[in-house]
Amino acid sequence: MSKDARPRMAVNLGGIEMRNPVNTASGTFGNGEQFEGFYDVGSTLGAITCKGVSAEPWEGNPVPRLAELGGSAILNSVGLQNPGVPGFVKHYGSYLQGLRQKGCAVICQVAGHSLEEYARAMELFEELAPFASGFEINISCPNIAAGGAAMGATPEAAAAVMRTVRPLTTRPIVVKMAPHDVAEIGRALEAEGADALSLINTIPGMSIDVRTRRSRVCRPTAGVSGPAIHAVAVRMVWECAKAVKVPICGIGGIACGEDAAEMILAGATAVSVGTANLVDPLCAARVVEELEQWACDQGVADINELIGAFEC
Ligand SMILES: Cc1cc2nc3c(=O)[nH]c(=O)nc-3n(C[C@H](O)[C@H](O)[C@H](O)COP(=O)(O)O)c2cc1C
Repeated sequence: MSKDARPRMAVNLGGIEMRNPVNTASGTFGNGEQFEGFYDVGSTLGAITCKGVSAEPWEGNPVPRLAELGGSAILNSVGLQNPGVPGFVKHYGSYLQGLRQKGCAVICQVAGHSLEEYARAMELFEELAPFASGFEINISCPNIAAGGAAMGATPEAAAAVMRTVRPLTTRPIVVKMAPHDVAEIGRALEAEGADALSLINTIPGMSIDVRTRRSRVCRPTAGVSGPAIHAVAVRMVWECAKAVKVPICGIGGIACGEDAAEMILAGATAVSVGTANLVDPLCAARVVEELEQWACDQGVADINELIGAFEC
């Protein structure tokens, strides 16, 4: 292909049609509206993934919730503050419907502390959110009955969440995985009917203020994200992609087109920009342009030709 011809950028994330591979990571992009002052979200991005939402409102954790870690990472302990599905739909439904009309996919994220809570949130979304192109199930939420371990920390536990939500919608389901054994858990989720997987969620970490001897955030441990976790995320996407057939959305420390391209070469069909949105609100739009330029420079007619094209 001539270097001047523009490659086809559209991808399909397990039934979610995206005009380009660029998505936003849950919790780092508001629900899109907050970024409209910077660019036209609906006519630029392939998809947005909304903040995790539960059936009932959750208050989230006390402040401080965020700490910067030396410029290459942040630590967060937001605790999934959200207004509940009905409140979310009331506030954002018409905006998100508008994004769909402009050709941007809308992925609604489902949260719960128990199988019953996931089921209830999924039922409410199914009833109240016709604008959702598909759903992302956050299996990193703490399981109250298991003393706070993540709901999807083991293949069995992850499969149980998937078995609960799968019968409740015919729309595509993406499962957002924590940085555990992504190959084994990915296989279990695929066997239960997940249409796609997204990874990784934040990596547990700690940061101590040595003057006060206290954590820099409200809890002793919290989630690390940003450029510092990118190499770990690329490795996990590669391991997961070798283990499953369903498409993957690569997440972790993406701040430029080259970071996104690495994820695609490792086996991701789509990518999500996360913490970088908080540093540069134009980042996801820039990644769209830089990724297209990279595909062009690679001389391919279609970006899909580059998925998993990493050569060992
Ligand atoms: C402030 C903040 C809030 C987040 N909220 C959510 C959330 O609601 N659901 C979720 O699955 N992940 C959440 N995440 C994790 C991100 O979606 C993403 O998986 C993680 O930050 C790694 O990507 P990054 O390094 O590009 O930020 C949050 C991350 C941050 C920094």
